[in-house]
Amino acid sequence: MAASRIVLGIESSCDETGAGLVRDGVLLGHAVATSMDEHARFGGVVPEIAARAHIHALNPVIGRALDDAGLRLSDIGAVAVTTGPGLSGALQVGVAGAKTLAYSLGVPLYGVHHLAGHVAADTLEHGPLPDPCMVLIVSGGHTSLLLVRDLARDPIAHLGDTIDDAAGECFDKVARVFGLPYPGGPAIDRAARDGDPKAVRFPRPLTGPRDSAYDFSFSGLKTAAARWAESRRETGVPVADGAAALQEAVADVLTRKAVAACAEYGVGTLVVVGGVAANSRVRELARMRCRSAGITLRVPPLKLCTDNGAMIAAVGDLLVRAGAEPAPLDLSIDPSAPLEYAALHPVAREPMAAGRV
Ligand code: KG4
Ligand code: ZN
Repeated sequence: MAASRIVLGIESSCDETGAGLVRDGVLLGHAVATSMDEHARFGGVVPEIAARAHIHALNPVIGRALDDAGLRLSDIGAVAVTTGPGLSGALQVGVAGAKTLAYSLGVPLYGVHHLAGHVAADTLEHGPLPDPCMVLIVSGGHTSLLLVRDLARDPIAHLGDTIDDAAGECFDKVARVFGLPYPGGPAIDRAARDGDPKAVRFPRPLTGPRDSAYDFSFSGLKTAAARWAESRRETGVPVADGAAALQEAVADVLTRKAVAACAEYGVGTLVVVGGVAANSRVRELARMRCRSAGITLRVPPLKLCTDNGAMIAAVGDLLVRAGAEPAPLDLSIDPSAPLEYAALHPVAREPMAAGRV
């Protein structure tokens, strides 16, 4: 195992600019700035606005993360950066900043897959991941069920993915129809507190006996919830009930499939990560179902569920300690990078044979 270094992680794939510092699996400090408010009136992230906000935020955020950790620039021993997936203009800002720092400090650079960052976020709270573990990753752009072994070395096996919308996308789009503010996920979560989850029976997509066991689909559910709201527009949409019922349907499908996958593959730990892991009902139902199935559940604390730089530093730290080959300084972004390995550049490894199970 290679010697450890203090790793600076930089995240800029969407609307959060994050910087975090990690050494030996320990979070030393981090800071996040968000351009969320600038996108709110458009009802979704505007790529150009996000990229410009990253340019303004990057240096101050790195400075705040260093202050938080009580460190100086010269203490940084490696730089890790999200190279994809994400918005290309937004990714470019982080990658340019990371290259500049790595070059000027004379330290190695690592390109990291954003979703591997979400997975690694949990290690900062709960320690190293058991090998193997089941990971349910639920964010604004992705919904996947993954069989993860050694995150720094092994290929990540996809047991299932969404065939259309991601869970977070479903929340965000339905929230708009419900007249709730952006971002929709947290707004649905808040509205659902006063609602009855049984008030409406929304569909549970891809849960039939002939359906793919571990793939997801949220587009039909999104349409069902939007139609339900539209048909009640005249009389006033009972938003709290709609939000509670939608949240119940999403949480039910996600946790049912994740727990079934653990049982089928004989895996004792489920890790739920990504922005939607912040959802209170997803967390609660996962806890209940894992408890009755004898599965250990790991969910990162809220601040590490949504996008941040600490999670990218966590992957960088794993790569450093695994002795992975650093990225070349001409490392480029990959806005639609598939999740195959945690590092998004060639590192010394076997050719990928069994990416999908
Ligand atoms: O992982 P993330 O911060 O960014 C992406 O990589 O996409 O996830 C953002 C997604 C958004 O769709 C947002 O609405 C959703 O996570 N989200 C939530 C909650 N907090 C964030 N969805 C449901 N309930 C929440 N409490
Ligand atoms: Zn994310």
